Amino acid sequence: MDSNKSSITLGLIGFGNVGQGVHSIVQTNQGMIQDRLGQAVHIKTICVRNIDKYKGLANGAELTTDVNDIINDPDIDIVVEVIGGETPAYDYITEALKHKKYVVTANKELIAKHKKTFFELAKQNDVDIFFEASVGGGIPIIKSFKVGYSANQIESVYGILNGTTNFILTKLFENKQEFATVLKEAQDLGFAESDPTADVSGLDAAYKIVILTAVALKLNIQIDDVFYEGIDQIQLKDIQYLDELGYRVRLIAKAKRMAEGVFAAVYPTAIPSEHPLSTVRNEFNAIYSTGNMVGESMIYGKGAGSLPTGSAVMSDILDIAFDIYTHHSRRNLETKIDPTSVLGIDQNETQFYVRLSVKDETGALEKITTAFKDANINISNIIQKERLDGHAQVVILTDVVKEKTFNALKATMLDTDVIHAIDAVIRVGL
Ligand code: HSE
Repeated sequence: MDSNKSSITLGLIGFGNVGQGVHSIVQTNQGMIQDRLGQAVHIKTICVRNIDKYKGLANGAELTTDVNDIINDPDIDIVVEVIGGETPAYDYITEALKHKKYVVTANKELIAKHKKTFFELAKQNDVDIFFEASVGGGIPIIKSFKVGYSANQIESVYGILNGTTNFILTKLFENKQEFATVLKEAQDLGFAESDPTADVSGLDAAYKIVILTAVALKLNIQIDDVFYEGIDQIQLKDIQYLDELGYRVRLIAKAKRMAEGVFAAVYPTAIPSEHPLSTVRNEFNAIYSTGNMVGESMIYGKGAGSLPTGSAVMSDILDIAFDIYTHHSRRNLETKIDPTSVLGIDQNETQFYVRLSVKDETGALEKITTAFKDANINISNIIQKERLDGHAQVVILTDVVKEKTFNALKATMLDTDVIHAIDAVIRVGL
């Protein structure tokens, strides 16, 4: 690579929401970027599936349908992959690294699954791969762990890492709307995918916590190590009952260093309403972490969208460009990720909120509390709510208990002749 060039030259693979965001930032902030970097940043080529669709938008960049026009072009310094998904992006990134191109990607699935391969390939080829936009949209969370918190051992990370589900949970609570209505609104606003399955199921956040476990905890876990549960079973009624108890429901992705290894999971979590993560509304994301020196801190911002995500991609480009320009290498700071034991969900320790439909008869509550006592689970709070469909609604909050212990009780709960149904179970506390 010629580091004496007058500009840093980019090739974009993909020109959707994020690609157009990057393009727009290069156009809008070109003067400022040049001042900061001492060099211009120039998009030379954009690879798309359908050239006609993007003709009016490329603004001087060459449009191509052949990715080799980017990968084989000696003039291109940085390949920016913004098509998403595993295939063909995996092949494109692999080829770009082999051709000694720096790579910037927003692709969480790919980094979560293939981080180690990419880090090694980048090292072998004396280049690097940056992926700031893969987690937290516009929030500079990767750089914060890589540089800002680098003097710390990070003990735990708790994140609201999915804007779509946070938007849905916020609107359910604030507008008392139904799940389907709110989802449609999120799609109309452009930050929920047309197929929102990965968002709603928790998979999107699971990929992101795999990446944060690598970058923050320096531990190598796989997507299959992460228990994830989505928000599609969450009902307005439980959000309201939990509010009365002083909790907000958020889809929390967590990774926590434990004596026996690491525990990583994504699930809807009731957190105290005064906790900083409870204040995160709508499509915003936040990452709350604990370092052994810095203590607790939280970073907050827009987790999705063309310009916020484009801003994160551009920050990687500028980071790399700065290294190229100054002939310095600060690369691969996050690539030492160690193997670890991973604790299964059974080992999780948490409080549980449970809503039961109960036969309205004498002694019913006693039978329920006996079942909890026999399972060795302490009840922290028990409230009888209004009747529904001829049954009393009973809400129970447990003390902290091992997930395995709770599941054993759950499996036998319906054996008591007074519990008609287990209507909701939500984990409580970080
Ligand atoms: N679909 C994601 C979200 C944004 O809703 O947060 C891209 O990671």
